[in-house]
Amino acid sequence: MSETAKLIFRGKEYEFPVITGTEGEVAIDIAKLRAQTGAITLDDAYVNTGSTQSNITFLDGENGILLYRGYPIEQLAEHSTFLEVAFLLIYGYLPKQEEFEQFRHHITYHTMIHEDLKRLYDGFPKDSHPMATLSSMICTLSGYYVDSSDPLNARHREISIHRLLAKTPTIAAYSYKKSIGQPFIYPQNKLNYVQNFMNMMFSVPAEEYILDPIVEKALDLLLILHADHEQNCSTSTVRLVGSSRANLFAAISSGVNALWGPLHGGANQAVIEMLQHIHNEGGNAAKFIAMAKDKNSTFRLMGFGHRVYKNFDPRARIIKKAADDVLKKMGIKDPLLEIAMKLEEAALSDSYFIERKLYPNVDFYSGIIYRAIGIPTNMFTVMFALGRMPGWIAQWKEMIENPSMKIGRPRQIYMGAPRRDYIPVEKR
Ligand code: ACO
Repeated sequence: MSETAKLIFRGKEYEFPVITGTEGEVAIDIAKLRAQTGAITLDDAYVNTGSTQSNITFLDGENGILLYRGYPIEQLAEHSTFLEVAFLLIYGYLPKQEEFEQFRHHITYHTMIHEDLKRLYDGFPKDSHPMATLSSMICTLSGYYVDSSDPLNARHREISIHRLLAKTPTIAAYSYKKSIGQPFIYPQNKLNYVQNFMNMMFSVPAEEYILDPIVEKALDLLLILHADHEQNCSTSTVRLVGSSRANLFAAISSGVNALWGPLHGGANQAVIEMLQHIHNEGGNAAKFIAMAKDKNSTFRLMGFGHRVYKNFDPRARIIKKAADDVLKKMGIKDPLLEIAMKLEEAALSDSYFIERKLYPNVDFYSGIIYRAIGIPTNMFTVMFALGRMPGWIAQWKEMIENPSMKIGRPRQIYMGAPRRDYIPVEKR
């Protein structure tokens, strides 16, 4: 007999099914709660709420485990490439050679954007944040593919996925070129995903651009580590928007906006700005640790803490080592890395951080690598979005292909004024 959970409410007993995940996670299925009891659950910020069953990513915050389609992040980081991980997340298995070649071909041959779309960049002010440009441009793609963006049509889904994965690096690189007043560089089919992105970012027509293989490898690794993270804020946004059957571009553009905030993907920019600020103030890590602990201060140690990881973030471990390696190999001495290490050491031995299980997250070290490889600070969150693209796509695809999918629509408990009658303005 399958396991159930009992609820006694207003003197009546109810039974609900218990669902157990592959890795032993348990959930009480309350789908029939309101119909049977008249009550809803209230779960501020969805701390205890599973919004879906998913086959894509497993995350164990207590033990610092992250699996994409069952494969540990450490193994993918060591042996795979970003494009292969993208295939894995979206289609659910590691591709055979020919399948992968075909996928790579599709992505390579969709990298150009419509020439008219380039003119939209002129409407953005020079110092517009590239996340604003990215989300606008991604949403605008739906205007260019009106005839092939029906989420319920399998062929439309496939081509939209290829277009989105392929065009995002072009759109992102163009927003950078626009911000520095340099000409847009067309994509090149002879280059791989990372090489092509870096070429569009940093080459100029006047001279040849040569990409350091250390930089290429480091960037590929960062993209892999950011590729999916189950039902976080931006992914839940993509699913929620997509559940209304808005097209893929519209759903993903909403996810980009959700990622932008400093409590989510925007943290990578905030971390570097914080480290720079500490550096400018003389490098006194202790002062900033004290501020982060002070309940009268709104200051938080950016890059520390995570809603789910309460032990360590496995991605942060890999990135920390990569940051050390990249800086060493490239012969860079970054004072911000030294401050980051001082902060980490101080915070990890401080009871405030220990008791609250606050550890460095993925964003704490990623910015150090981005800086070292020449990515400007305001592009950091765009880099995160590039990495997260296959995850958002996979989660959207899983949802939209589920025949029992319903529109996402949470409920609420109303605590406002009780019913009252309208008073004409002269009588108020
Ligand atoms: N610095 C100082 N104190 C912190 C920090 C921090 N970075 N993070 C959490 N705390 C404290 C809180 O003040 C709270 O203390 P209290 O119990 O005394 O009130 C306690 O730790 C729990 O924090 P919550 O905010 O309740 O934890 P929540 O799960 O809601 O937040 C979050 C997680 C948003 C990541 C938070 O830790 C944070 O703001 N970190 C800094 C921003 C950041 O790095 N975000 C990136 C997250 S990773 C990602 O999105 C890719």
